[in-house]
Amino acid sequence: MKRARSEVPHEAARVELPTAYARFDARAFECPSGYTYIALVAGDVSDGAPVIARIHSECLTGDALGSLRCDCGVQLRHCMRTIGAERRGVLVYATGHEGRGIGLVNKLLAYVQQDGGSDTVDANLHLGLPVDRRDYTEAAAVLQALGITEVILMTNNPEKVRGVRASGLIVHSVRPVPTAAHERNVAYLRTKQMRLGHASPNGDGLEQASLAPPDVSALLGSVQVLPDRPYVVVKYAQSVDGRIATSTGDSKWISGASERRASHALRARCDAILVGVGTVLQDDPQLTVRMVPGASPLRVVLDPELRIPDGARVLSGDDPTLVLTTERAPSEAIAGLRAGSVGVTVVPMCDNGMDLRAAMHHLRSLGIQSLLVEGGARVITSFLTAGLVDRVIVALAPMLLGRGLEAVGDLGIEHVGDAIRLTDRRVHLAGEDLLLAWSVSSARKSSTRRPSANS
Ligand SMILES: NC(=O)c1ccc[n+]([C@@H]2O[C@H](COP(=O)([O-])OP(=O)(O)OC[C@H]3O[C@@H](n4cnc5c(N)ncnc54)[C@H](OP(=O)(O)O)[C@@H]3O)[C@@H](O)[C@H]2O)c1
Repeated sequence: MKRARSEVPHEAARVELPTAYARFDARAFECPSGYTYIALVAGDVSDGAPVIARIHSECLTGDALGSLRCDCGVQLRHCMRTIGAERRGVLVYATGHEGRGIGLVNKLLAYVQQDGGSDTVDANLHLGLPVDRRDYTEAAAVLQALGITEVILMTNNPEKVRGVRASGLIVHSVRPVPTAAHERNVAYLRTKQMRLGHASPNGDGLEQASLAPPDVSALLGSVQVLPDRPYVVVKYAQSVDGRIATSTGDSKWISGASERRASHALRARCDAILVGVGTVLQDDPQLTVRMVPGASPLRVVLDPELRIPDGARVLSGDDPTLVLTTERAPSEAIAGLRAGSVGVTVVPMCDNGMDLRAAMHHLRSLGIQSLLVEGGARVITSFLTAGLVDRVIVALAPMLLGRGLEAVGDLGIEHVGDAIRLTDRRVHLAGEDLLLAWSVSSARKSSTRRPSANS
């Protein structure tokens, strides 16, 4: 893959590429390796001033298919968004770099190794492949062909910085690309940090550390893969006097922006997020990840009679939504949601309404391993009553609301000795707010455990 310095990439096509992030000048370069590199250019990049540049290694599974085994798609979109916002910069999409240069099929074979317990480095080695076969000479030559001499390189990878410098470009500075890890790729990201020297995905070294996604690992605890239901994390924000909403139901915003960024990092970490229809009717939440770069989870709404309004924001956008309902729901309403690409599953009833255990079993059968339950009060109380909660995360905001809604209603506990016990306390400061997390004592939970199986 090495290229002689005299070999200049051939510009084969040039066309405007409108995207959600910016209108790019897309310039395709055919390179001596046989691969085509596409430069997405915004603004004038040939004026001699340092240019924000991202050399993005192709990752079909992450970039195009939304795989959560890596954070490539999140990084790609974050970089396009940054360049679009700054109105000047270039993203070079390096098609010869799939799977750190080992190719798509070998990358998938390496995933099989990883499922057997290897990390991303050892997986390649077991297959007799290099850990990283990428060469940055052609990408640097593309940047040079655009008239660029000096770059502000967006990367977490020190090898990329070395490669670009070795190809004759000046690296003015390095800008880390922070992403909020998903439970499915957190081990992979840690391996890249520990064994390949990558910057922390939490943005260590960012000029504005406040822009980095908070590390919520400790808050989440040790996420277990359970056989019959997801690992369930209940999370809510309350005032110091224990209210999650005022007496009118208003809860925006009890916690501050820093705490909400931590909440979004928690969402990005989980496979699914769930609320009751009461929260949808009162707050009209989107339940997406917007405040940190990260993947949005599957949105799940518990709605036994399908009271959810057509225009609810949780039903809109590109992110998937599943409504769990019961036989009490009108069939026309079920058909209407399905016609709008919203998933609907009819869950059995029990004495107290929807059978939560059956609902959780269904989610697990869909592959959901981790579930963030964000409220409201009735749903939180039902999950606790059913013994379906593994972790409780409470954001404590410095305010008193007096009369209002409390997160946890009647659990039928008459003696302190019968309380649901919480262990493994973790504390996280977020601006003026305080996040507290505990695991629910195993005596109060339903499900058997299996060892953690992070990819
Ligand atoms: N501060 C925070 O962190 C936070 C977070 C979320 C919400 N909130 C606040 O909480 C309030 C909403 O809470 P809420 O208690 O009224 O509504 P909720 O818990 O969001 O939704 C309750 C509804 O969910 C349905 N449901 C389905 N299965 C259920 C089950 N097994 N157990 C309980 N409910 C089930 C029921 O609908 P049907 O009645 O149709 O059967 C029930 O009425 C709002 O004021 C909101 O602002 C605060």
